[in-house]
Amino acid sequence: MIVSGGIAAYKCLEVIRRLRDQGIAVRPILTRAGAQFVTPLSLGAISGDKVYQELFSLTDEHEIGHIRLARDADLVLVAPATANILAKMAQGIADDLASTVLLATDLPVMVAPAMNPLMWSHAATQANMRILRERGIGVIEPGEGEMAESNERGIGRLAEPEDIIGTVTGFLGGGRLKGRRALVTSGPTHEDIDPVRYIGNHSSGKQGHAIAGALARLGAETTLVTGPVQLPDPAGVTTVHVRSAQEMLAACEQGLPADVAVCAAAVADWRVAERAAEKIKKDGTGQPPSFRFTENPDILKSLSAPGNRRPGLIIGFAAETQTVIENAVSKRRAKGCDWIVANDVSAGSGTFGGDTNIVHLIRGEGETDIEHWPRLSKADVARRLGDEIAAALETAS
Ligand code: C5P
Repeated sequence: MIVSGGIAAYKCLEVIRRLRDQGIAVRPILTRAGAQFVTPLSLGAISGDKVYQELFSLTDEHEIGHIRLARDADLVLVAPATANILAKMAQGIADDLASTVLLATDLPVMVAPAMNPLMWSHAATQANMRILRERGIGVIEPGEGEMAESNERGIGRLAEPEDIIGTVTGFLGGGRLKGRRALVTSGPTHEDIDPVRYIGNHSSGKQGHAIAGALARLGAETTLVTGPVQLPDPAGVTTVHVRSAQEMLAACEQGLPADVAVCAAAVADWRVAERAAEKIKKDGTGQPPSFRFTENPDILKSLSAPGNRRPGLIIGFAAETQTVIENAVSKRRAKGCDWIVANDVSAGSGTFGGDTNIVHLIRGEGETDIEHWPRLSKADVARRLGDEIAAALETAS
C-alpha cells in the first residue's frame, strides 16, 4: 500500500488496521509528502511491517529491493493518491520509491484519490485519470464533502475507509458474494432516429453504477451493461457500453449465467421502426415528419422468464411519479422479477441525476414484504441492496 501526501493520509491507518483484522497483510510504502502527515513509526506499528521510504536505501534494497516490492503482493493500493502521484503514474515518471514501484509493477493497481476539489476537477487531473482508467487501474472514487483544510465543498474527499476496505477485500475474494456472478444494467438507452438524433431520457446511471460497484466490492464477478452516461466505469467491474435497448438485451444475454441480475437501466419502451439512413431534413411544407414506433424488448421481463438461464434473484426498478408502491407491486407481477426497488422520480424528488434516493424494497405483496428505506445516498442504497442480495443468496444456498 502506497501512502502519499495529503491530509487524508491519517485515514490509511484505520484502513490498514481493518485490512489486517481480515487477515490481509499490508506492506506500506510512504512517500516523502506522506511522511509529513503520518509518521513511519505509526505506519510501521499499525501494519506490523517495515515501512519502505527510500529508493536508494541500501538496507531496503538489500532486504527486498524495489523490484520485488513491486511483485510480491496481490494488489498495489495507493491511498490516499494525490494529484501529484496520479500525474506521475499517468506519465510514467519514476523519481522516488513509490512511483518507481508503480512503474515496475505488473500487479493490479487501485487508487483512492484525495485532493482539493479544484485540483480534482482540473483538466490535467481529469486527463490523467482518463489515462489511468484506460490502463485498467481501479479507481475508488473520491466523495463529495467539506475539505479538511478549507471550507470548500466539492469532489475530492478520500473515499470512506469502509469503501476502500470493501473494494480491496472484494477484489481479493474475501467478500460475501465471492464466487457469485452479478449482472447490472444502468443508465438510459439512446434510440437512434437518424445518424444525428436519438430518443433518450434523463437517467444519469448513478444508482446502477453504484450497485455494480457495491456488488463487486462484496466479491461478485460483476458485469455492468450501461447505456450512454457521463460516469467512469466502476472499479473491479467488467463494463459493457451499449446505446440501444436491443444492444443492451444482447449484452445482458452475453453476461449470463448470473446468480443475481439488477435492472436499474431506464430502457426506452419504444424505438422508431425505421431508422433513417441520412439526417432527416425539413421538407419545406411545414409538415413535421411522422414516425412509426415499435416496442423495444423488455430486458427485465426477458431475463425473468422461467428457464434454466434465469438468474436465481432478479431485481427490477420502478421509477414512478404517482402511487409509487401500488404501481411497483403490479410491475413486479407483470415483469416476473423477484424484487422491485421502487423510487419516486416525480418533480422535486431530486432522484434523476441527484445523489440521493428514497426507495422502497418490495419482495412480495404482503405488508411485511415491503420495506421503506429513508432518504439515503445512492451509494448507501447500493450498499444496503448489496447486503440484502448477499443475505438472500446465502439463505437460498
Ligand atoms: O416498465 P418500466 O420501464 O417502468 O419498468 C422498469 C423496470 O424494467 C426497470 O428495472 C428497467 O430496468 C426494466 N426495463 C427493462 N427493459 C425495458 C423496460 C424496462 O429492463 N424495455
